[in-house]
Amino acid sequence: MIRFASASKSYRVEGTLVPALEPVDLTIEAGEVFGIIGHSGAGKSTLLRLINLLERPTAGQVFIADRDVTHATGAELRRLRAGIGMIFQHFNLLSSRTVADNVAFPLRLHGEHDEAQIQARVDELLALVGLTAHARKYPAQLSGGQKQRVGIARALASKPSILLCDEATSALDPQTTASVLELLADINRQLGLTIVLITHEMDVIRRVCDRVAVLDAGRVVEVGDVADVFLHPQHPTTRRFVAEADHREGRGPAFPGIDGRLFRLSFRGAATYSPLLSRVVRDTGIEYNLLSGRVDRIKDTPYGQLTLAMHGERLDEALAQLRASDVDIEEVAR
Ligand SMILES: Nc1ncnc2c1ncn2[C@@H]1O[C@H](COP(=O)(O)OP(=O)(O)OP(=O)(O)O)[C@@H](O)[C@H]1O
Ligand SMILES: [Mg+2]
Repeated sequence: MIRFASASKSYRVEGTLVPALEPVDLTIEAGEVFGIIGHSGAGKSTLLRLINLLERPTAGQVFIADRDVTHATGAELRRLRAGIGMIFQHFNLLSSRTVADNVAFPLRLHGEHDEAQIQARVDELLALVGLTAHARKYPAQLSGGQKQRVGIARALASKPSILLCDEATSALDPQTTASVLELLADINRQLGLTIVLITHEMDVIRRVCDRVAVLDAGRVVEVGDVADVFLHPQHPTTRRFVAEADHREGRGPAFPGIDGRLFRLSFRGAATYSPLLSRVVRDTGIEYNLLSGRVDRIKDTPYGQLTLAMHGERLDEALAQLRASDVDIEEVAR
């Protein structure tokens, strides 16, 4: 659906070109929810804005649905942008227009004049985002979460195939964030929309994304399935984001006074809820201490990740049994 081919971006600042994005090669598939995570200034918004050509790459190319759009202008650019919706951290609603008029705005902008058609489409969109009762209100009369729902309805007005979200939940409290993410996941499922979502929170990635790219100082340093990246982060920046999401120290555990070797066990899918560990412990007579752990979901897949201190004569046998049941095991340095 979206492909970057060595696409890079430098900004001209006081006459000199300052690189913001090193050459990026990346493919985002149709129908997936793709996350981009990175610290402030990493180049996330720049990468996103290359997709709808709010920024042009300094070098390289951008493809949308296999078409090279790098130099699109005029009617082609308008058609391209009509197919790409965008939502923002601060909602960017028109404060002097009602909710219904905000949603109708892009329809009118794209030349729709039939008021009955506009009304029907607006009704449909407001129902989709759960705001039917608020159609006549003004943005100032809405909560943050409701404003973002208006933003989503407006972004979907022209039936785009791609939705870009730039920190769309960063201004919202955790509960409202969860409901907006749920709405985005619904839209992705119901409409088959490709969603590209920027965040600086790994938890947002974990809840809704299929794949993720980690940006660090203008470079894509890691990209993969969310479960792989979440359970086995490779790059130091990724590790920090995962550690923040787990509320644990990024340096890794140090547990003085506890016997045995330390292991991190990762379970995925059905294994998460089966009593594997207790069975292996009973069979082999090993002992363990549970030092930290989390059982949760990555999008729709349950997972568990436990850090254990383990000891016993038949430890190797216990590890082999766990591995045979598809438990991923890493030894953790102490
Ligand atoms: N229009 C611009 N002119 C000059 N430099 C820019 C411009 N836009 C962004 N930059 C610079 O490019 C780099 C990447 O910026 P970008 O906005 O893509 O980062 P970001 O990852 O979205 O950060 P944040 O999380 O703070 O939104 C930064 O160093 C920024 O200062
Ligand atoms: Mg940004």
